[in-house]
Amino acid sequence: MNISIIGSGYVGLVTGACFSELGNNVICVDNDTKKITQLKKGLVPIYEPGLEELISNNLKKKRLKFISSIKEAVYASEVIFIAVGTPSLENGEADLTGIENVARNIAINMAGYRLIVEKSTVPVETGKWVKHTIQTYIKRKIRFDVASNPEFLREGQAIHDFMHPDRIVVGVESAKAKEALTNLYKPIGAPLVVTDIESAELIKHASNSFLATKISFINAISRICEKTGADVTEVSRGMGLDKRIGPGFLNAGIGYGGSCFPKDLDAFITIAEKTGYDFTLLKSVREINQQQRLFFINKIKDALWIVKDKTIGILGLSFKPNTDDIRNAPALDIIYALQKEGAKIKLYDPSSMKKTKGLLAGVKFCRDPYEACRGSDCLLILTEWDEFKELDFNKIKKSLKRSLIIDGRNLYDGQKLKKSGFNYISIGKKS
Ligand code: UGA
Repeated sequence: MNISIIGSGYVGLVTGACFSELGNNVICVDNDTKKITQLKKGLVPIYEPGLEELISNNLKKKRLKFISSIKEAVYASEVIFIAVGTPSLENGEADLTGIENVARNIAINMAGYRLIVEKSTVPVETGKWVKHTIQTYIKRKIRFDVASNPEFLREGQAIHDFMHPDRIVVGVESAKAKEALTNLYKPIGAPLVVTDIESAELIKHASNSFLATKISFINAISRICEKTGADVTEVSRGMGLDKRIGPGFLNAGIGYGGSCFPKDLDAFITIAEKTGYDFTLLKSVREINQQQRLFFINKIKDALWIVKDKTIGILGLSFKPNTDDIRNAPALDIIYALQKEGAKIKLYDPSSMKKTKGLLAGVKFCRDPYEACRGSDCLLILTEWDEFKELDFNKIKKSLKRSLIIDGRNLYDGQKLKKSGFNYISIGKKS
């Protein structure tokens, strides 16, 4: 199929690269001309394992093209995906300016039937507005369809998630749109959930909110575990084996971050408010998540007593492993709070430090984990990167001023570390 993806951000690039890998002719569009120039050379502006290879392979095979003209893309494609950003406004609502702008541009450039698909995460009923916008700005009487096809990929494993999803959701209102999307996704072979547009839009917000709820739930349980001597990892394992609950998203820690959960929860709470429903459950999920960061900061204060002038080694900054993304990373809040108390920070993260240097004044960026430990009064684990699992703890012990590890991701076997002489503090376990 000839398809276009408008918006070459995270979702747009992965979607474009994967659709071209499946044999389609794909045009990725972005109004950032500098980004397009780089992408044409196969240079990818985000860190996502496997994406650069996929893009350069498909550029070579001429199945993938990067341009900045929506006009050209609309002319050449039967199916047009909208994958532009929907950032949060100050009141938590999603800013849909980008979506409206693209819908208008598609309308004025449409010369024949087109299927316009929302890929961006949008509030329920955005599809209606996209349709209305196209109807308003279209020049001639041309048939078109609007559909919703929310994306469920996770940063760090986006290509795997795209190619092997648990399900594909498409919200349509015509047989023609259903047929086009069914054919497009056929090679993936995943269960297809076909709904109306509003339900598809809601599935996305409901899914992300539910996953965030699982995380806040287990974080709340972790607080009770610490008071009672229970171990949250065991509780989570025991709960997760119940198929009705499932083991995913039950790792206690310093709370969720990233560009999706915090934003989507804010948006969903506002959407609910607009319908007249006070979504108190999600407000609590958000509150527990915020508290979890403060709770961790208090753990550090309890262990160090005086934070002022202490040197704190930190491993991990990105909001989760395998990404360089630091948007809403819990680590940022923790670092700011410690600096406010007068601590000196030594930081190591495998991928996100380059992006951060301007943001974190006064932080010493280290070449490896051991440099972050050297001369530090304690070591914090803030992201569970694989490379932190296999550290040389003898070397760490010698490097630290004091053998204190405070683990915000429950990465290590506490018994083992304690036997090696560490004071090891984690989440949801009695220390
Ligand atoms: C999330 C969803 O998982 C995707 O399905 C969705 O497509 C995406 O948002 C989106 O809306 O675009 P992502 O933000 O990449 O994906 O990251 P997740 O892997 O879901 O992790 C989110 C946060 O939850 C991270 O900070 C992670 O550390 C935290 N988390 C996750 C926990 O604290 N505990 C867990 O058990 C799992």
